[in-house]
Amino acid sequence: MSGLIVIGAQWGDEGKGKIVDVLAERSDFVVRFQGGANAGHTLVVNGKKVVLHLIPSGILHENKTCVIASGTVIDIEALQKELQTVTELGYLVSSKQLQISSTATVIFPFHKALDQARESSLGENKIGTTGRGIGPAYEDHAARKAILVGDLFDLDVLKAKLKSILEEKNALLKYYKQEQFTVKQMMEWAQSYLQSVEPYLTPDVGFNIYRAIKTGKRVLFEGAQGTLLDVYHGTYPYVTSSSTIAGSACTSTGIGPNMITDVIGVFKAYATRVGSGPFPSELKDDLGDYLQTKGFEFGATTGRKRRCGWLDLVAMKYATRLNGITHLALMKLDVLSGLDKIGVCVSYEINGKAVHEAPTKLSDWEKAKPIIEFLPGWKEDLTQVSSLKDLPRNATLYIDFISKHLGVPIDVISVGPGREQTLWVKPLFAN
Ligand code: GDP
Ligand code: IMO
Ligand code: MG
Repeated sequence: MSGLIVIGAQWGDEGKGKIVDVLAERSDFVVRFQGGANAGHTLVVNGKKVVLHLIPSGILHENKTCVIASGTVIDIEALQKELQTVTELGYLVSSKQLQISSTATVIFPFHKALDQARESSLGENKIGTTGRGIGPAYEDHAARKAILVGDLFDLDVLKAKLKSILEEKNALLKYYKQEQFTVKQMMEWAQSYLQSVEPYLTPDVGFNIYRAIKTGKRVLFEGAQGTLLDVYHGTYPYVTSSSTIAGSACTSTGIGPNMITDVIGVFKAYATRVGSGPFPSELKDDLGDYLQTKGFEFGATTGRKRRCGWLDLVAMKYATRLNGITHLALMKLDVLSGLDKIGVCVSYEINGKAVHEAPTKLSDWEKAKPIIEFLPGWKEDLTQVSSLKDLPRNATLYIDFISKHLGVPIDVISVGPGREQTLWVKPLFAN
């Protein structure tokens, strides 16, 4: 069995795209299983940056089958743009490279309008969503009203579903004093993107993934967002609307857990978060600004500044447990070069008590004060390091400290955005 899941172990933007890109070379299938165009996965190949939102990061490699599975929510307008980008860059040359599940949910303009209207109405209490319609689209799915990709090709079904959905959506939009949408407008909108989707429409991607694994092919599952943004286990309600953890790769694609061999937890050498919500180890001072600037921490989807803080090992321990992480990939270690000392949050203080496990209540998350241990820093630039033995001693101490604390090996270390800036402690997916 060769199913490998790559998930974000923090609040998103850990560098999942880069890890999937480097592992894709050794894989046959790359599957996006949840989320939508809220994700922004950045890949740097030969110094050129590509940001993908929906299409799996395996698309940059020849002869890989990329899959967008059932559990995703697809904005067909955003998808068309992205298809155009990867085609123009010469990465998408055949329709065989991409399979789009006919049972994925479609995001319509009214989902986006509702997402944005709700956010504005929440004022200070807003979630800080990406405004991409993710929440409203998943709501429709849970309410058993969603328009699935396959429905776009049956005009009678599409019309009937739109009529039923729009009655409710327009009432809500009216409540938020927003413009309303007609069935005709939405039918026309959908029609204009059909041609772009059709070549990739696949009735049963779950079966194809199952068969691939059964016949010894290597399947990489590309997570989006991060563990602490999981709709069930994250810092609810400051989360996204899908399950982002490893188990979701099975639920959202329709394959059994016994097909998964390993789970790679991707994490940054520090922590970031975009949008609102608890972030116990956040640095709201010059040091936070330093990490933000040095790490170039801007959201790949919205361009917003990412909040920055020290690495949070309480949150990471929680992520290790929730995902069953078997290997860790440590990203952006190069960003920490130049600091005299590096902080690591090892526990929280909540209501005067030391707490070693992630809270389950929002109010506890909000009250959590980070207990920071400091480790010695290093001055050397790491971006040119190509061998583990060339890492400064204090960088190695930092790596060992994290790995020991979490009880999981750090098998990949990233020292820059490029493919070549990757150090393998243990090769993954290598024969
Ligand atoms: P994702 O959403 O998890 O795929 O991550 P993003 O692409 O949103 O954000 C990660 C950012 O860090 C991107 O701009 C990457 O190019 C960049 N990056 C990835 N690994 C490294 C690294 O080791 N060092 C540095 N300096 N940048 C990195
Ligand atoms: P990748 O895959 C970081 C955050 C938003 C907001 C919350 C809910 O690039 O790691 P949503 O639009 O999903 O309803 O917003 O989740 N968020 C992300 N933060 N990286 C992402 O994706 C994110 N996708 C959503 O900022 O706080
Ligand atoms: Mg991102």
